[in-house]
Amino acid sequence: MTSFSFPDSFLWGAATSSHQIEGSNILNDWYHAEQSELIPPAGVAANSYEHSHEDVKLLKQINANAYRFSLEWSRIQPTPDTIDDKALAYYRNILQCLKENNIEPIVTLNHFTVPQWFIERGGWLHRRSMEQFICYVDIVMEAFAEFNIKHWITINEPMVYAFNSYMIGIWPPFETHLSKAFLVIEHLKRAHKYAYHTVKEHFPNSSVSFAKHYRWFHPCQCGSKFLNRISCGIRDFLFNVDFFDYAMITRTMDYIALNFYTGEFVKFTKESMLGDACHCRMDDFWCNSLGWFVVPEEFTRSLKRLSIFRKPIIITENGTTEHNDEDYSQFIHEHISAMAKAILQGVDIRGYMYWSLLDNYEWAEGYNANFGLFTQDRHAKPAAKYYSDICKNNSITI
Ligand code: GCO
Repeated sequence: MTSFSFPDSFLWGAATSSHQIEGSNILNDWYHAEQSELIPPAGVAANSYEHSHEDVKLLKQINANAYRFSLEWSRIQPTPDTIDDKALAYYRNILQCLKENNIEPIVTLNHFTVPQWFIERGGWLHRRSMEQFICYVDIVMEAFAEFNIKHWITINEPMVYAFNSYMIGIWPPFETHLSKAFLVIEHLKRAHKYAYHTVKEHFPNSSVSFAKHYRWFHPCQCGSKFLNRISCGIRDFLFNVDFFDYAMITRTMDYIALNFYTGEFVKFTKESMLGDACHCRMDDFWCNSLGWFVVPEEFTRSLKRLSIFRKPIIITENGTTEHNDEDYSQFIHEHISAMAKAILQGVDIRGYMYWSLLDNYEWAEGYNANFGLFTQDRHAKPAAKYYSDICKNNSITI
């Protein structure tokens, strides 16, 4: 066993998103879809809209020096022509409380949810969706100028959003058209690019990126290995590489904001060039309570692969949902050790945000997943103490 010390000024913290923790977000597309019972209701979530100071106390309890959270577009701009000063005051209050506690904010401008009025105008399919998004980004830049935020994320997991909302239709607006999904991806790319430049105009010294959900893909062993390999390659390029390529070509990625959880074994299918996820090896690996493969070695491998972009990396999401408390600490130990191994192999990693600070609304799974270090009513799980020691010592025994 040996002790590994992380670089000085390494960012340690946790991550959340507005619709998943705030509660009473009634002006966005998810709330409206929840009324149609197509997806479970978020309801009051963790009621962070009334308890944001409690959340900062939890961050202090884990010795965090950073916190990734998202702004709710529909709160700030409830109609195309109005700005809600109460909503701005809520987020300003969070930023002020973080500042007073020496916790650095990493602010996500859009984390899946959009205003209902935006969706009624066509959402991200609309050819002017980017302009509407930039109008919102401008409002945010003006409203929080005094905080001089150093790290911004324009859009969270654009490929996950396009895939779930427009390709397989399990998220609002429940579309299942490949062509619409590709159009949304193109609009999200441009929205990210314009948002990048808008942020840099206001905060030239800030670091701006988009949050990338990266998954490992391996061809599964059943069926045709050759065809499985082709499907695996297509899925890897479209899901993992394409958006990075765009951001590199347009020079709109100052750092890699990496969301890492799991991966898939891919098998060829006639129905889709992307193939399909195969579950033939579920018994060979640790799987979390959502059935996701948990393979820490793949974390090290993925980090090394991403170092080809020669950008600093901040892990903006990494976490698990388990049936047993001790599995959370095991997950944290193994993934932070895997991250340390990547640093020892030369990968430039600057921070780690555990997903999530507290149990919250897990989208279409509702409250059937518990990613938090704390429960929804803010009681610490054993892993919160384990993680707090790593954050305090800036080191881990591997
Ligand atoms: C995502 C989102 C988070 C999820 C988390 C667990 O990756 O889907 O960024 O909102 O809750 O990743 O699934």
